Amino acid sequence: MTTDKFYAEALQTFGDLLDEARGAGDPEPTAMTLATIGAGGQPSARTVLLKAHDQRGFVFYTNFESRKGRQLAANPQATLLFLWKGLRGREHVQVEIQGTVEPVTVAEAETYFAIRPRESQIGAWASLQSQTLPSREEFERRFAAVEQRFEGVPVPRPPHWSGFRVVPELIEFWYGAKYRLHERQRYERAEGVWSKRMLYP
Ligand SMILES: Cc1cc2nc3c(=O)[nH]c(=O)nc-3n(C[C@H](O)[C@H](O)[C@H](O)COP(=O)(O)O)c2cc1C
Repeated sequence: MTTDKFYAEALQTFGDLLDEARGAGDPEPTAMTLATIGAGGQPSARTVLLKAHDQRGFVFYTNFESRKGRQLAANPQATLLFLWKGLRGREHVQVEIQGTVEPVTVAEAETYFAIRPRESQIGAWASLQSQTLPSREEFERRFAAVEQRFEGVPVPRPPHWSGFRVVPELIEFWYGAKYRLHERQRYERAEGVWSKRMLYP
């Protein structure tokens, strides 16, 4: 079978599961753990929201000067992990996506920033994400200063705020099942060719 067939199948399955999670009332169906690697090889992880996904990859937005932003600039490898609880007959589903990251285009970042709530747009300027905050008042002061700066005009996208796209090389679905007969379906790309296999759970 061709490369594209397995990749298309994995993306279709992912989309179906995300729809199911939405339908099942998951309060944050697009929340995913993003794992990155620090300078010393130490992994770090945090939650971000998936904002787009298609054959090009999986997109989230963040501050490029944050810890994750700097780590990804230095080492553009990431793993995403979704856990949707109680899907498919009340069992859990986990999806792991490994890949390399690339920045989204300026046009994509502009389009997405423009539809964010104004408070979030102001927050993107006001927050020095991942840096030491001396006091809560300091953040409120910065927020108010940004509000004043852009009063009556649209808030432009800060240059340090954009998106990363995780271009997958591995997508694995883990389906919980009764009596521990869990199922793992792994799709991976090697030398440009996607393949699919099962793994022992
Ligand atoms: C449900 C949830 C969604 C979040 N979504 C984002 C997001 O989309 N982008 C982002 O930069 N941070 C998001 N955060 C905050 C991150 O988890 C993290 O605290 C922050 O980005 C700083 O991470 P860093 O210091 O590792 O760079 C979210 C947190 C939670 C709990």
